[in-house]
Amino acid sequence: MRLLPLAALALVVLAGALSAGGAPGEPRALGGAYPARARPNGTVRTFEVTAAPAEVAFTDGRRLHVWAYNGTVPGPTLRVRLGETVRVRFTNHLPQPTTIHWHGVRVPNAMDGVPGVTQPAIQPGETFTYEFTPKDAGTFWFHPHLRSSEQIERGLFGVLVVEDPVPRPYAREIVWVLDDWLLGRDGEIVPQFNTRHDLMHDGRWGNVITVNGSTTEQLDVAPGERLRVRLVNVANGRVFQLGMGGLDARVIAVDGLYTARPLDPAAFEIAPGNRLDLDVTIPPDAGGRRYTVVNRFRSPETPLATVAVAGAPVATPRFAPPTAARMPAWDDRAAVPPRLTLRLNARAGGPFGIAWTINDVAFDHDAAMGAMAHGAAEHEGTTAADRLPLGAWSKLRFVNESYRLHPMHVHGLFFKLLARDGVPVDEPFFRDTVLLHAQETVDVGTVPLEAGRWMVHCHILEHAESGMMTLVDVR
Ligand code: C2O
Ligand code: CU
Repeated sequence: MRLLPLAALALVVLAGALSAGGAPGEPRALGGAYPARARPNGTVRTFEVTAAPAEVAFTDGRRLHVWAYNGTVPGPTLRVRLGETVRVRFTNHLPQPTTIHWHGVRVPNAMDGVPGVTQPAIQPGETFTYEFTPKDAGTFWFHPHLRSSEQIERGLFGVLVVEDPVPRPYAREIVWVLDDWLLGRDGEIVPQFNTRHDLMHDGRWGNVITVNGSTTEQLDVAPGERLRVRLVNVANGRVFQLGMGGLDARVIAVDGLYTARPLDPAAFEIAPGNRLDLDVTIPPDAGGRRYTVVNRFRSPETPLATVAVAGAPVATPRFAPPTAARMPAWDDRAAVPPRLTLRLNARAGGPFGIAWTINDVAFDHDAAMGAMAHGAAEHEGTTAADRLPLGAWSKLRFVNESYRLHPMHVHGLFFKLLARDGVPVDEPFFRDTVLLHAQETVDVGTVPLEAGRWMVHCHILEHAESGMMTLVDVR
């Protein structure tokens, strides 16, 4: 998502944010924005998740062959409350190895689901148990981290909602999973992945756009209702930008964490991986109205979902929209040199004919997995240059040397945007994924709080698959 200049003008630096302290032992630079550690309350929530080929009813009633978690697309929404421990007994019944990555969740490194880096690939027939206690409430998602351009495209994704210890009294909570599908004349998923076309462009963009697997998603509401809508973009490459069709909607969370104040959803580019939580209020006199939520990113407006208002009005719950209590400004760090600079580009070669690179290197997935299988202690991809100090503030610079889009995602941490093309930006929120446009340079600041080797990659899955991935070593 990108905060557009108009909205950026309205940004206000939160007075006192810099001096606000966190709990003892928490890094000062973070200003107590979010906790360093999880606080498990002893409750363990156990989920069974199976990945397997499945047949689902597509929107027009046709059957569609997919790969699915627990037989549905989207997969299950796993819901826990902050403090509870998530235990997922995962079984792989796919015809290929896989893993689950918990996108945006600050998990211990061994639970991150990166094959060859944090765990061996889970082979067909095998079971692996993921267990972690989320440190943050918010909207997260999970997906394979192996051949993800194929596995996610075939339907493997689910949502993880971590509720606040005391959830706000919204009348209802809705999850909207945004996706697109490339279907052939036979109505099935086009089985050619990582094509030259996908690689030369912004990944695989489909010919059918769906919300929760439906082209005609409708939400029936009563006048006066107040809802929390959790949006997740699980598409391989497509970016979404919402037109709310007159709905009163405010962004209250980005990539899981609350924003410092409510924001206009129209200003956000929702790139693959991004989440956006909306606080939506239906006016008491809106009975009979239909609102059409549209996508207006780089295309004529296309409808995403309809909100239909009917029935007797209900009392609107009155409460201040939830916001982040603290947000460091980091506006004093413009001149701090980047600790890591990641140049994004492409070259000919590699298994797909085109390789996307970070600092001229294409990540070799097979080598990483092979190294782990053979017990190599350290995959050679990590060098001293890729180290980030644990608990200290660092600047990362992404330099897009190409003309394509790259939503850059970092595992295991949140970052805050500092500048675009050298122009300071003070977004009043953290992210885990930031969209870079053609030839753009983006600076972000972060305080890594979990040791380990973490992925940095483009979330356009074809770019990642062909090499646009690297590791940072937090220690
Ligand atoms: Cu959605 Cu490596 O991540
Ligand atoms: Cu990319």
